[in-house]
Amino acid sequence: MARSFLTATDLSSEDLFAIFERARILKESIKERKTLDVLRNRVIGILFEKPSTRTRTSFESAILRLGGAAIYLAPNDLQIKRGEPIEDTGRMLGSYLDAVVARVYDHQTVQDFSRYSGIAVINGLSNLEHPTQAVCDLFTILETKGEVKGLTLTYIGDGNNVCHSLLLICALAGMNMNVACPVGYSPRPDILDEANEIAEKTGAKIEVLDDPKEAAEGADILYTDVWVSMGEEGEEETKLNAFEGYQINADLLSIASKDARVMHCLPAHRGQEITSDVIEGPQSIVWQQAENKMHGAAGILDYFLS
Ligand code: CP
Ligand code: NVA
Repeated sequence: MARSFLTATDLSSEDLFAIFERARILKESIKERKTLDVLRNRVIGILFEKPSTRTRTSFESAILRLGGAAIYLAPNDLQIKRGEPIEDTGRMLGSYLDAVVARVYDHQTVQDFSRYSGIAVINGLSNLEHPTQAVCDLFTILETKGEVKGLTLTYIGDGNNVCHSLLLICALAGMNMNVACPVGYSPRPDILDEANEIAEKTGAKIEVLDDPKEAAEGADILYTDVWVSMGEEGEEETKLNAFEGYQINADLLSIASKDARVMHCLPAHRGQEITSDVIEGPQSIVWQQAENKMHGAAGILDYFLS
């Protein structure tokens, strides 16, 4: 059974920093358009149940740049659409492919796929987590600030998948995290417990608050995500009302550290979770963050597959 990356805690702190180092080296090589053969003779499936601009393209591009081959598998074109169980699909694809990057609705699907295929499965977002996003984001913070341990990341918004993985990855990295969510949208208690347990060992501090201003005070990084996640379209009106005030704007940024940087996993909804002036402003590192999804993907692929 190959090693999969389904949840942030499939990594140790040592694994995480080793991936950062591989991403840093591979980024230099990729920028210089060097020929790389880290994934030579490897065929990797990209099985996405939901739309994606960044995760799909960054992984496909990283696979090709590292000398491997990527095959995009749209569920609508597979027999999954006609009811073939994920267990059977996994068994077949496991014999055709060396690894799969999967984006799914239900986290259980990546777990089942990994179990039945036996190949490495990389979670490219589920309802529960977005672990590759969090790894790439801390790589960007390391690149920007020169360190991650002891810094504070404040997450404003929905305590769901992206927030869950950031909690766990920040804890592994020894980075403090403040979370400000409206009532009813806090991170899952089991994820918080897991993050706190890791944080105790790495010296990180985690706080969940409901006041964005209190959470933003002195933060090194302000981070947000969409208010309405994929699959939640039916809850749009309720969520837009619930999240009013949980926005990264110039006022909130003025409360953070004077060198604070702003991050967003994207896609962004200007005027909702972030204002246009802030995402386009001098403290935004959102585009560097988006580029680093490819270099982080290269580091992850190298670490898990080579
Ligand atoms: N941040 C992120 O995962 O973007 P995509 O949905 O475009 O992949
Ligand atoms: N929370 C968002 C993240 C998008 C990258 C979603 O699940 O749609």
